[in-house]
Amino acid sequence: MFQTTAYSGDKVKDYELLIKQLAALVHDEKDVIANLSNASALLNQFLNHVNWVGFYLWKEDELVLGPFQGLPACIRIGYGKGVCGTAVKERKTQLVEDVNQFPGHIACDSASQSEIVIPIIKNNEIYGVLDIDSPLLNRFDETDQVYLEKFVEELVKII
Ligand code: SME
Repeated sequence: MFQTTAYSGDKVKDYELLIKQLAALVHDEKDVIANLSNASALLNQFLNHVNWVGFYLWKEDELVLGPFQGLPACIRIGYGKGVCGTAVKERKTQLVEDVNQFPGHIACDSASQSEIVIPIIKNNEIYGVLDIDSPLLNRFDETDQVYLEKFVEELVKII
């Protein structure tokens, strides 16, 4: 049974613990959907002030909704479309302080104000993205980016 942790409040230390928790959760299981489901649930209980956490997976030249926590969301996102499709096109993390200022942002949940999207790249090929939305403006900073990218690196080991 998963035991919830009293995180310390030290952001870096807590992220380091989170990544250890992720490694422990996924190391014994090969099913990718099961692991991504648990990864989204793990992030959802760890992050404050988020309203959507989950994955889009690259299938036949578009992103298709994968395991997530939050309200039902748009199912398919094209290459270069929205924040997620831009992360795929540019192959780099998109840290969006205010989604209303991002041209082409796709609003799945009207509560979302800021967003971070990390591309998942395995063997130089796009596998999908990790997408996190917040109802607060400017919710994500460089520390979030660094550690969420490490979180994705840990996941890449088992996909
Ligand atoms: N806002 C995203 C769409 C996905 S939802 O946030 C879950 C985008 O612009 O790509």
